[in-house]
Amino acid sequence: MCSRTNRGKSPKSRSLPGVFKANHFLHREKVENWTLQARDTVIVLVLGDPPKDITQCLSSVGSIPWAELRRIWNGGSSSSEGAVVGAWRNLVVPGPSSMATQLFEGKGHAAVYQKYRFAPGEELQQIILSYLKEKRTNPIELVVDVGCGSGQGTRFLAEHFKKVVGADISEAQIQEARDASSRPNLSYLVCPAEELPFEDGSVDLLTSFTAVHWFDIEKFMKEVNRVVKPRGCVAISTYTVDMSLHYGNCSEKLTQIFKETRDLIFKYSHSRVKHVLEDYKEIFEALPFQDKKRITDIFDKIPMTVAGVVGYFESVSPFQAYMKNEPEAAKTLLQETEKRFLDAMGVSSRETPLEFWVRHVCILGCKGP
Ligand SMILES: C[S@@+](CC[C@H](N)C(=O)[O-])C[C@H]1O[C@@H](n2cnc3c(N)ncnc32)[C@H](O)[C@@H]1O
Repeated sequence: MCSRTNRGKSPKSRSLPGVFKANHFLHREKVENWTLQARDTVIVLVLGDPPKDITQCLSSVGSIPWAELRRIWNGGSSSSEGAVVGAWRNLVVPGPSSMATQLFEGKGHAAVYQKYRFAPGEELQQIILSYLKEKRTNPIELVVDVGCGSGQGTRFLAEHFKKVVGADISEAQIQEARDASSRPNLSYLVCPAEELPFEDGSVDLLTSFTAVHWFDIEKFMKEVNRVVKPRGCVAISTYTVDMSLHYGNCSEKLTQIFKETRDLIFKYSHSRVKHVLEDYKEIFEALPFQDKKRITDIFDKIPMTVAGVVGYFESVSPFQAYMKNEPEAAKTLLQETEKRFLDAMGVSSRETPLEFWVRHVCILGCKGP
């Protein structure tokens, strides 16, 4: 579409003083010859009105929060009208959703996530499938799983539906999802939940597992309403903090250890976890469909191992924050937790199986008319 956004002229000549590229806006670097690819999302910060040739280069820019970008940018070299002082490739605009990207964008985190995060359990799967049977008479052609992570729920959907697309804002998560499984009816794309690249009324089923609390809920719900077909359905779920561990006669002790560790990790929780603690009440109210219900007592028993439970702790976003701030304490906590589990169970292998019981909340909705 357009190549070489940096024309290399000086700001004084009222052309472009420089184009900067970064994976994240805090770590920008100058790029001399930056070629835009067809599906790149680019946000360009311009002081004054954007020059025409630059605006023409932008392939899929949503609404640009100019004021916010100007506020953030303080390293621009020019203030002349119409000068481009910075550009970010695939930038998520700062705000609630950018925090989400930061939380899940690390490659290491995505790898741990892929390894240890479990798929929706049997009970949750059945509740969603039965709801669709009850509501849908037409075949389900297109399913979109938003905030799909490394594909935990997306793979389950691909076993049942014709075409399934997993969407997530984190490139690292999507890469893990692609590496984990390939099926002809399953594909993935990197995109924010608030700007879904689907036509109006084109999606038969939109799902999201343990992710909506990270989105800009208002914008996401507008997108849901836009992309879902009339009579199309939505299934939004999360697992809650009601979790327990079960092994022989020491389930109570194991669950106690689990809760103690979780409480230590959760001191690094993001405020958005409040939606989970409230069983997605606010998210349910925000779904703009008349025909909807919220089920708060779905229990699943997930087969796991001691290593799996410790890995689950490692995969939660507060633990990643804990690691950043207090790496030694975070590592020690996991080691000690594992030892306490093994001692309580009277076993030595971290591969010893146990059961992880979890309560899910699920919001189901069907769009009118
Ligand atoms: C807790 S994970 C859930 C992943 C997966 N659905 C599961 O069931 O395990 C939340 C996911 O939401 C993604 N996410 C956060 N904010 C997002 C946004 N605004 N748009 C799209 N994805 C987002 C994160 O990158 C992360 O992969």
